[in-house]
Amino acid sequence: MSTTTSEQKKFGPRQGQKPAGGHVTQVLKTQRNDFWQKGPMLTLLGFGAFVVYVHLRAFMGMDYYAAPYLSPFYSPLVYANPEYYAGSPTFHALLGNLPAGALSFWEQMVAWMPLALPLSPAFFILIFPASFRGTCYYYRKAYYRSLVGSPAGCTVCPIAQGTYQGETKLLLIQNLHRYAMYGAVAFIFILTYDFWLALFMPMTEAGVPWSAGSGDPTSYQFGIGVGSIIMGLNVLFLGGYTFGCHSWRHMVGGRLNRFANGDESSTGITYAIWKASTWLNERHMPLAWISLFWVMFTDLYVWSVCNGWITDYNTWSIATSGQ
Ligand code: FES
Repeated sequence: MSTTTSEQKKFGPRQGQKPAGGHVTQVLKTQRNDFWQKGPMLTLLGFGAFVVYVHLRAFMGMDYYAAPYLSPFYSPLVYANPEYYAGSPTFHALLGNLPAGALSFWEQMVAWMPLALPLSPAFFILIFPASFRGTCYYYRKAYYRSLVGSPAGCTVCPIAQGTYQGETKLLLIQNLHRYAMYGAVAFIFILTYDFWLALFMPMTEAGVPWSAGSGDPTSYQFGIGVGSIIMGLNVLFLGGYTFGCHSWRHMVGGRLNRFANGDESSTGITYAIWKASTWLNERHMPLAWISLFWVMFTDLYVWSVCNGWITDYNTWSIATSGQ
């Protein structure tokens, strides 16, 4: 005869209670015999490495432009700040140089901080993709499991033993995802524009590729480099992740009970977009990781070229090698 209480029915068994449905009730214990910890551990490592890297690069506030490549962490570049960073591409910034007094205003604002906080464009940019990824339905599952172990996995007894409240109270903030999605979609267009610019090398008056300290470019030369390909793939992967978002899929068609032209045989544009989003949505987890890794790699590539740690092979250097 079952002894399951009404609380167990509603919230599952708590520690010390009799298990319902065969679940073990000791924290992080389970009857599963597979290596269920693997997923949470890999998430912790992957996500943790990304968070550390992003903070490092955002706090640097420099080495984000290696002509003609702009790091995705610094895009869109609204203002350039040559006072701060010698290679700052004024001509690439939407509004040119930082207005006079902005830097001293910032320094006064952060003067109370023990560490000098640079006026890094990344601080103002990364908040958009961070809010999108941080509230993504897939990532929620991943970091609930790996960071707080509640739930740690299917049929694994969670660490949190209080009353289950789902995504209510503080976690209501996760509902911002549908709004963060608009910002993320805008970023796909911005990064596509950066990719376009990555195909045109700014040239100096002397007819050589632009470099820090060589003034404003006088012309642009079409070509392609390894960096252009990396930036193009970045748009592709981020686009695949963004347009497979559950909120996007809902917006473009999922909210409808029926497509205008009928069922699956429909040839309507709404159906086609929803179908494409569904295909991406089914691959949301791998796309989340590939795009996360690739955006980090794209920044690392720009950073490395900036510092001369690696050579960017491109058609511009071939074209000007004889000069
Ligand atoms: Fe993952 Fe929207 S659900 S990005």
